[in-house]
Amino acid sequence: MHEISHGQESAKIGVVGLGYVGLPLAILAGIKGYDVLGIDLDKKKVASLLSGSSYVSDVSDQDLQALLCTGNIRIQSEYSELLSCDVIVICVPTPLTAENKPDYSSLIGAVKGIAAVLRQGQLVILESTVAPGVTESTVLPLLEAGGQIGGKDFFLAYSPERIDPGNKSCGLQNTAKLVAGLTDRCLFLAQQMYQALGIEVISVRTLAIAEMAKLLENTYRDINIAFINELAQVCHACEINIWEVIDAAATKPFGFQMFYPGPGVGGHCIPVDSVYYSCWARANGVPAKLAEHARLVNDAMPKYLAGRISEILQSKGKSLAGSNILVLGVTYKQNIADLRESPSIELIKELRRRGCNVSFYDPYVSEISLSSARLERVYLDEQTVVRQDCVVLAVAHSTYNLAWLYDFSPLIFDLTNGMAKFPQEKIIKL
Ligand SMILES: NC(=O)c1ccc[n+]([C@@H]2O[C@H](COP(=O)([O-])OP(=O)(O)OC[C@H]3O[C@@H](n4cnc5c(N)ncnc54)[C@H](O)[C@@H]3O)[C@@H](O)[C@H]2O)c1
Repeated sequence: MHEISHGQESAKIGVVGLGYVGLPLAILAGIKGYDVLGIDLDKKKVASLLSGSSYVSDVSDQDLQALLCTGNIRIQSEYSELLSCDVIVICVPTPLTAENKPDYSSLIGAVKGIAAVLRQGQLVILESTVAPGVTESTVLPLLEAGGQIGGKDFFLAYSPERIDPGNKSCGLQNTAKLVAGLTDRCLFLAQQMYQALGIEVISVRTLAIAEMAKLLENTYRDINIAFINELAQVCHACEINIWEVIDAAATKPFGFQMFYPGPGVGGHCIPVDSVYYSCWARANGVPAKLAEHARLVNDAMPKYLAGRISEILQSKGKSLAGSNILVLGVTYKQNIADLRESPSIELIKELRRRGCNVSFYDPYVSEISLSSARLERVYLDEQTVVRQDCVVLAVAHSTYNLAWLYDFSPLIFDLTNGMAKFPQEKIIKL
């Protein structure tokens, strides 16, 4: 591969997988003046992007349309044109199977597709989250299947993505990226490519260290959130306000980071990556019991919360079965439209299993699919709110008018501490 410098006209970057990770990267490369080829197997997504409509909140339609117009970005489902790219970045999903095990099928499919068109001098960078060793033991042999040698005929690097969808202060361009290479030359070329996009690079000595670092970052969050979720349950049983406990502990200027309780942990990363870590640890004969237990604690939160709602209603002389419950917020976190692994949806399922009439409202989501049904979002007006037995504030989207909600809701179960400033008579806190 010839070396990439900012604005170098001939450099062409291929991005495979145009989701939350790949699309922002492809757009950034286009904005920086590179010739970008975006590949996604999902024809609906390709059609949506080609019509100028972005499904990722961090990518504006305006930027996408401008790049389509100038021809800086082209989007398709076929791999053949990757042959002309200098760099190919893999951003395909690495989810879990139905058996809760790492699912590398998309990654293997993508790498085989790239191997079929791989040519001398190309740099392949894997950004998808994987267990330590996967870049070298799975990706490399698939790319070498045609006889080309990694580090000599083509170059291979791993650079885990740290994107935090919806985060306005830490984005792709101001969050340093870890980069590791199969060889020093691979590392050098990958560093150059990210630096040319204006991204700070932190080089890491081995591929496995970079792979493990990504799992550490996310498993760390899963374990700490599980701890605070467990602490919330203990505090509730002992009649101590967990939110005030966290605020008090947070005054310590060192050695403490705040985590908050909630309905569980969602998204494509944290709950999934923690399983990638613990499965890999078990496969290596060292069970990661803490991470495994954290998963159990976080996954059990919807059941715990359904139990709490039952207690709350009982204290008002009502039973859970047959009650009207409105859940506010079904995405996995605030201010984004991503429903993947959303714990609020698990809470809705649990409440329905227990016989509640559950409805939901979310400004970002018009419909959700449950095990055997689809549920449309309600129209959030005074009539809807007043007839509820309990309103559950599950995700604190900043668009909610909390004062209005307070005025009309008979009872609010606040999982977010968003109602802290209101008189507490009709508010119950997690
Ligand atoms: N979403 C995040 O916040 C985030 C953050 C850091 C890391 N990651 C990791 O990045 C990777 C991608 O995650 P994402 O959130 O962008 O996933 P995503 O599901 O949003 O996007 C992946 C895209 O890849 C496409 N795809 C699947 N198989 C393909 C193939 N063989 N060829 C071409 N396209 C294919 C899918 O259609 C989809 O559009 C995962 O490993 C994830 O763990 C995600």
